[in-house]
Amino acid sequence: MQKKVLKANIPLNGTVTVPSDKSISHRAVIFASLAKGRSVIKNFSKGQDPLSSLNICRALGVDIEEGPDLIINSDGVLKAPLTGLNCGNSGTTMRLMTGILSGQNFSSELFGDASLSKRPMKRIIEPLSLMGAEISSQNGHAPLKISGKKLTGIDYHSNLASAQVKSCVLLAGLFAEGVTTFTEPHLSRNHTEILLSHMGADINIDGCKTIISKSTLEPCQIEIPGDISSAAYFITAGLIVPDSDIILKNVGLNPTRTGIIDVVKLMGGNLEILDMRNVSGETVGDIRVKYSNLKSCVIEKDLIPRLIDELPVIAVLATQAEGETIVKDAQDLRNKESDRIKAVVKELSALGADISETEDGFIINGKTNLKGGVTSECYHDHRLAMSLYVAGLVCQNPIIINGFEWVNISFPEFETQFAQLFGFIQS
Ligand code: S3P
Repeated sequence: MQKKVLKANIPLNGTVTVPSDKSISHRAVIFASLAKGRSVIKNFSKGQDPLSSLNICRALGVDIEEGPDLIINSDGVLKAPLTGLNCGNSGTTMRLMTGILSGQNFSSELFGDASLSKRPMKRIIEPLSLMGAEISSQNGHAPLKISGKKLTGIDYHSNLASAQVKSCVLLAGLFAEGVTTFTEPHLSRNHTEILLSHMGADINIDGCKTIISKSTLEPCQIEIPGDISSAAYFITAGLIVPDSDIILKNVGLNPTRTGIIDVVKLMGGNLEILDMRNVSGETVGDIRVKYSNLKSCVIEKDLIPRLIDELPVIAVLATQAEGETIVKDAQDLRNKESDRIKAVVKELSALGADISETEDGFIINGKTNLKGGVTSECYHDHRLAMSLYVAGLVCQNPIIINGFEWVNISFPEFETQFAQLFGFIQS
């Protein structure tokens, strides 16, 4: 689907409730499927990625009712699937499920779409193999054929700050004999640790080190907060479209995810957090953002895992900030749904941005009056599609985005919520 985006000649105003967090939705449905009893999940994501996790849990014999809430009835034991398990576009589904399936007493196969089949899986096969898992792959890529085995705990030091790798190993640790320890160089998102501990797992956290032992999980009653990664598109648009003033309600503010807020502060943006609270073990709040004069900043080191998915839209933000913004230490952006370094540099350059590629990030010189007037590609990548839409709002000439339907991977409500903030439809 092609999407035409015009320059915003009116500000964004008013309030939206940001939809459910994708990362927590995956974990909620998967972990509840492992717990014996009835779990209730409020505000489960409508994105296609969490739906891939849900469908796989069903294919593993778990009873899941989809209504206003998700009701999960599980006997706590997964059953051998009758067919291969389809992870679609979702790396989180594939990596978390591989950890779990490696320790079951049956064989299974996980596959995904063309993009997921290109993403690196060696990063999970390696630690799982050390635990005794038997996984065959296509040279480190999906499809993954898993022969369930009895696993043994390991003490693993990862050179990547990846929540998917960490979660995969910790979930395998739930089924392994002995203790599993996972250490990462910087703290990545910790939703797995929070939810597993909420559900009674034997898990301890010591900075970047997490220790888990074989455990049975209790069913859960949880409410999923809004996704700060989705809020990021409104935050950016609110900061760069003149005269905007918006409130984003019910946003998850887990400190392992709030790197974008730190960046906005570094850039001098007008952003306020209102009504901070705790919901199901996660920090939640409302965010108020106003149009601002921005200045450049450097984004690196331990900030990177705290905003990894927001970097494409932060690149758009940096085109509207005075000075040189440098993003480094973000090499793993090349392994996402697309090579996000290459894709961001190519597409924003075409819009008129002054941006150059480095091995582990990009350098942007602002502030630029983006010309637009071109057809943009999103490379089957939802975050590229949404970032280009936000860029289109400040381009002098309309842009066309090819493949815009990819936004449904994480944020089917995207356009409707933008229309609400522009006052085109009622909230
Ligand atoms: C995710 C972790 C991150 C992130 C992805 C979701 C998760 O990936 O980019 O969108 O839910 O654990 P990595 O673990 O590969 O950094």
